[in-house]
Amino acid sequence: LKTKVGIVGGGPAGLMLSHLLASAGIDNIVVEKRDHETIRTTHRAGILEHGSVRMLTEGGVSNRVLTDGYKHDGIDLRFGGQSHRIDFEDLVGESVWLYPQNEVFVDLAAARKRDGGDVRYAVTGTEVLDQLSDTPKIRFTDADGADFEIHCDILVGADGSQGICKRSIPKDRRVDNFIEYPFAWFGILTQAPPSAPELIYANSDRGFALISQRNDNVQRMYFQADPTEDPEAWNEEQIWDELQQRVAGPDGFELKRGPIFEKTLLKFRSYVCEPLRYGNMFLAGDAGHTVPPTGAKGLNLALADVRVLFEAIDSFYAARNPDLLDGYSELALKRVWRAQNFSYWMTSMLHTRSDASPFERKRALGELQGVVSSRHGSAYLAEAYTGWPNG
Ligand code: DHB
Repeated sequence: LKTKVGIVGGGPAGLMLSHLLASAGIDNIVVEKRDHETIRTTHRAGILEHGSVRMLTEGGVSNRVLTDGYKHDGIDLRFGGQSHRIDFEDLVGESVWLYPQNEVFVDLAAARKRDGGDVRYAVTGTEVLDQLSDTPKIRFTDADGADFEIHCDILVGADGSQGICKRSIPKDRRVDNFIEYPFAWFGILTQAPPSAPELIYANSDRGFALISQRNDNVQRMYFQADPTEDPEAWNEEQIWDELQQRVAGPDGFELKRGPIFEKTLLKFRSYVCEPLRYGNMFLAGDAGHTVPPTGAKGLNLALADVRVLFEAIDSFYAARNPDLLDGYSELALKRVWRAQNFSYWMTSMLHTRSDASPFERKRALGELQGVVSSRHGSAYLAEAYTGWPNG
């Protein structure tokens, strides 16, 4: 098989890049090890920055985010049992959309199918080779057991945090920057009406909780847990009681309970691979970096990488100009490190370490108070949460 751009990974990053390239007349092939149904039913984050929404709508993928998603003009920061609204509209004139990542995948996969894109799901034995040559290659076996080798000009690793592309870079040609955190998120999906119109990020002495939504009948909630916690060991009542204690306050706020139909433990860490390039292979999204989930930057950062990488590849073919490709890693990493800082900051400000001293707990409350009582502090959060302009 011969193509211009070979893409490993058919999640949102890989499919969005494939869509943009195809729209610009640049041939590409996507290989993905999971099948369509597995990706469609894997629950991930739910918040899209305005820039991500524009890529879906103005980029001609789908308008479903506008019809089926929910526009949110702010969030609540809740601490000391009180809610403080961060009003994005007022502070920075922007919003975010609640629209789950699996729906983003559904839209992108449908658009690729509609437009005749070459996306191969459920492939096995994927290998990348000759990245330092002018013809990098992807080897794989397709779902029917046939072996293929893709010869391309540019190889893109969009294969997620456990992917093969990053690992194919020799250790002495990359720097792995990473930290771990002493907590995880216990996530649930529940059949219940929304407990609040917008997201609530809650800090409490018992730890963090996030009250999110999916639609009028299904809600998504998380609470800080030990990374070794076994979700199966918790019954519904214990989960609801724990969540409720973390959001309880003198205002009498009560979560609306319902049957819980999914329980997962989400471990988190921060990771950045530098550079996001090895020869003619470029990394995009989680394949090159991971953020902790607090602040919902992961998917948005992946799509931001894709915007920059698409422009670079487009300029390479339109004008035979490699300058933007040469600048991709540095430019993308600027935003990545800003988002790393934001995610780290939101995580450390809102979570409570089990070994935290009284000083540390009160200092965190001082930090939260500082954010909500300062227009400048709130505006920094609003700007980061809704998404920085490109660059
Ligand atoms: C969701 C996840 C996040 O990490 C976040 O910061 C906000 C919302 C969600 O799954 O709804």
